Amino acid sequence: MADIAVRCQQVTKVFGDGEPVHALRGVNLEVPFGELALLVGPSGCGKTTLLCILAGLLYPTSGQVEVLGHRLETMSANQLVRLRMREIGFVFQQYNLLPSLTAVENAAVPLLIQGVPRREALQRAGEILHQLGLAERRQAYPHQLSGGQQQRVAIARALVHEPRFLVCDEPTAALDAESGRRTMELIRQVAVRPERAVVVVTHDARIFDFGQRIIYMNDGKVVREEIPHPRRG
Ligand SMILES: Nc1ncnc2c1ncn2[C@@H]1O[C@H](COP(=O)(O)OP(=O)(O)OP(=O)(O)O)[C@@H](O)[C@H]1O
Ligand SMILES: [Mg+2]
Repeated sequence: MADIAVRCQQVTKVFGDGEPVHALRGVNLEVPFGELALLVGPSGCGKTTLLCILAGLLYPTSGQVEVLGHRLETMSANQLVRLRMREIGFVFQQYNLLPSLTAVENAAVPLLIQGVPRREALQRAGEILHQLGLAERRQAYPHQLSGGQQQRVAIARALVHEPRFLVCDEPTAALDAESGRRTMELIRQVAVRPERAVVVVTHDARIFDFGQRIIYMNDGKVVREEIPHPRRG
């Protein structure tokens, strides 16, 4: 069905060669196009694991994962790389910036990988950094940036190629309240469109009102969903 961006059916993930870890125990969920969904739940309940599966970074052990019309569990690793390059943006829990690149170069990486000319890639990355309040720090290296600034560079990198599906793991954890809300505003402006979908993992109750759907996880399962009343226009 065309109105569903993401659908999981009975998704499980078992880690480990020795003592198995059942990280996901049968996840069912749907996220329609045009939505920003929040994924919440206690530490260790499987949020990052699920996000990695949705982003095509991990295969499920069993179950079906459909993203933007693609059945990810049936795709080869190469097909997943190409899908991620074109259509998926990922903000990791650890920012995973490249230490030898400046802020603006880091943000431009997805465009450079796609073969966009360097000058244009840097310009588009610079614009996103500007929107995120980092224009002055565009030439700084990651080690010269605060945790919150590094987080915003990581968000710029995830948004720069305008992915149709954006996943973010704790994007506001390192930010103060004001920067956290500004970041969520930007994610909403840039990523929430009729033909796109966003899934954000968070512990941060201060940003719950940005979610059009709140998906509660516990012990490897979705236990509850909430659709809060729409707020301001
Ligand atoms: N690569 C791995 N190998 C083995 N076990 C793993 C691996 N990755 C995650 N796990 C385990 O799977 C479970 C779910 O981990 P996950 O990182 O998805 O939790 P989380 O909900 O993101 O937690 P947090 O809020 O602390 O980030 C945990 O028990 C974790 O120890
Ligand atoms: Mg996690």
